[in-house]
Amino acid sequence: MTSTARTAAPPPPVPAELLPRTVAVAMDGNGRWARARGLSRSEGHRAGAERLPELARAALEIGVRRLVVYGFSTENWRRSPQEVAALMRLSEQALGAQRERLHAMGVRVRWSGRPGRLWRGVVRELRATEELTRDNDRLTLDLCVNYGGQAELVDAMAAIARQAGAGVLRPEAVDEELLGRHLYQADGADVELFLRPSGEHRTSNFLLWQLAHAELVFLDVLWPDFERRHLWEAVRIYAERRRRREGVVPDLSSLPRSSTS
Ligand code: FPP
Repeated sequence: MTSTARTAAPPPPVPAELLPRTVAVAMDGNGRWARARGLSRSEGHRAGAERLPELARAALEIGVRRLVVYGFSTENWRRSPQEVAALMRLSEQALGAQRERLHAMGVRVRWSGRPGRLWRGVVRELRATEELTRDNDRLTLDLCVNYGGQAELVDAMAAIARQAGAGVLRPEAVDEELLGRHLYQADGADVELFLRPSGEHRTSNFLLWQLAHAELVFLDVLWPDFERRHLWEAVRIYAERRRRREGVVPDLSSLPRSSTS
């Protein structure tokens, strides 16, 4: 099958009750993709950033309603100053270039992360993208930029401690539901499917709280090579696991699968 034919193929018919509502994706493998082609790491990140609208399209076509995407982690500041600068510039440019396209697709973009050391231009583009797309409701795309799972929990606990200190919250009222409401996205506590491409089997400080009950799927594709069929394959694997776990019919093992896993 040619890659064009693969791209044109429709999504597998996964029953709505077996679809994950929220899928988290780590965009990993840009550096290795670039090295294999004799390109700079920045060029790998650029090729990776261009996959975002394709990911959104894949989610819309199969019926996933929310994506959470790891763009820049709190650990990424440890990379070389040149790579950090390239990632800042790229995030700024990619948001500017992709905003209208995502908007036209009905995607609502939200930013999760700390403003902190982020370049002002990146914060400006993130805010402008949130503003433009705020009323869209076909798909929510939570972009994690200057994000860390541990930092998010620290921020949530600090906010709760401040309220307890001010006497507006009793410590006995702190439970899982309350903590969930203090995460960067108050409605975003549950992620059903975590997808990491590039063959790495780690969660890398991504969504520590939200992944508590997630299915983890790892695919052997580098992020810049990511196509719609890769998201669909992960969703098919997720649905098949749920069907086995819950004994839900129908049997999905005969659904078309891609050649990635
Ligand atoms: C991990 O690959 C990827 C990143 C650290 C950056 C991902 C960011 C983008 C694709 C652009 C973000 C765009 C927006 C709009 C926020 P890696 O460098 O760790 O790859 P490697 O493991 O092969 O070295």
